[in-house]
Amino acid sequence: MAKTFHIITFGCQMNERDSETLAGMLEAEGFVKTEDKNAADVVILNTCSVRENADKKFFGVLGQLKHPKEAEPSKTVCVCGCMMQQQHVIDTLKAKYPWVDLVFGTHNVSEFPKLLKGVRETNSKVVEVWEDGRAIAEGLPAAREYPFKAYVNIMYGCNNFCTYCIVPYTRGRERSRRPEDILAEVRDLASSGCKEITLLGQNVNSYGKVKHGEGSYCYLEEPGGLAGEGVDFAKLLRMVDEVPGIERIRFMTSHPKDLSDDLIAALRDCKHLCHAFHLPVQSGSDRILKKMNRHYDREKYFERVEKLREAVPDIALSTDIIVGFPGETEEDFLDTMDLVRRVRYDSAFTFLYSVRRGTPAAAMEEQVPEAVKHERFNRLIDLVHSIWEEKAADYQDKVLPVLIEGFSKTDASMLTGKTESGKTVDLPGDPGLIGQIVPVRITKAQTFSCYGELVK
Ligand code: 5AD
Ligand code: SF4
Repeated sequence: MAKTFHIITFGCQMNERDSETLAGMLEAEGFVKTEDKNAADVVILNTCSVRENADKKFFGVLGQLKHPKEAEPSKTVCVCGCMMQQQHVIDTLKAKYPWVDLVFGTHNVSEFPKLLKGVRETNSKVVEVWEDGRAIAEGLPAAREYPFKAYVNIMYGCNNFCTYCIVPYTRGRERSRRPEDILAEVRDLASSGCKEITLLGQNVNSYGKVKHGEGSYCYLEEPGGLAGEGVDFAKLLRMVDEVPGIERIRFMTSHPKDLSDDLIAALRDCKHLCHAFHLPVQSGSDRILKKMNRHYDREKYFERVEKLREAVPDIALSTDIIVGFPGETEEDFLDTMDLVRRVRYDSAFTFLYSVRRGTPAAAMEEQVPEAVKHERFNRLIDLVHSIWEEKAADYQDKVLPVLIEGFSKTDASMLTGKTESGKTVDLPGDPGLIGQIVPVRITKAQTFSCYGELVK
């Protein structure tokens, strides 16, 4: 009987994409996916470090695997992802979870089949984590989650060192993939029927710009190819826009400091770019933005938003906001509230500041008390939701293209899909529509999702 595997993914789209590669590599070795983590021959936990909650969840789930592992010692328990790039996590694993078989990091995902084989054949434990990224591994298999929408990495790592953020330490320096390799992947996806792609990078606006990092790699240093033509993110988008069959292009994440006029022009011109933009602001206070090392102030942010809306009037804007960064006063927080009121986001991801060991902000004095953080967080959520509620009314009775993605989470007899802006729409319909983009009339617009009907 075929051996089985189960992957549990924590965190962001980067991790989801890495898990698709891990699944692809396992399938290439003859493993079959199972939904039962306790019964699987190989279990992988792909971890996230961005906030403390993710750490806690990981250790909780890992603990649940102890008994299945003891009951079936031939089972292989693997842990990987951002947390493994931190020495204190490795130390905790060695001390408290010695039954874990394989530990690897974000930079050696491509080595996984070799590492797994070693562990299973010799029945040994392996910890192999690289400190920084080497040459980007191309051509790895991927078992994609959906046939009709896909994530495509365009770059890895981050050089920005926002003072609260662990990502530059866990994902290493910025490395851009070759435009040729990205385009080949997109064409391949299109030819297999994929309709929507999301280009992924920690800071997509610096795609193709950053040259060499210590021990790092950049296609810009290769002779020949498209590298010589200086393909930046705006140019890359225009190239991807020309790939026949791809009907929707999304991307994330954009750093406001690098959001260029060229990118705004590409958004205006490209036929398949979704009119949706994720532009994390993090705080509305100039003082806090400076302490966060974000390299823009609120005026510059407003100016970029205005320019985006001028070029693409129906653009849906979303953002990330951190509440309770060290030293945040009531006045700073009110600046954030004011910014949210002025921008009127279509959607916002709000986070309580979480101390990340080894980052500059962790060592800052004036950590905000938990109770104050929560109180501000609740006020911000109320504001964000009231704006969504008002904005939802704009959807009422509109006819919009919706990509049907599957069955509704709340009512399995209904289909569910997404508008170009990213709004969820539930509707009755034939499951044969899954994977298609169809016109839908919004019959009931609500704050978090809408109901609709197919327009025949
Ligand atoms: N605490 C809270 N939120 C954080 N983020 C990143 N680091 C932290 C942290 N230490 C948020 C930022 C980022 C999003 C992916 O996660 O808002 O944009
Ligand atoms: Fe973290 Fe800032 Fe890099 Fe985003 S841009 S990954 S928030 S350091």
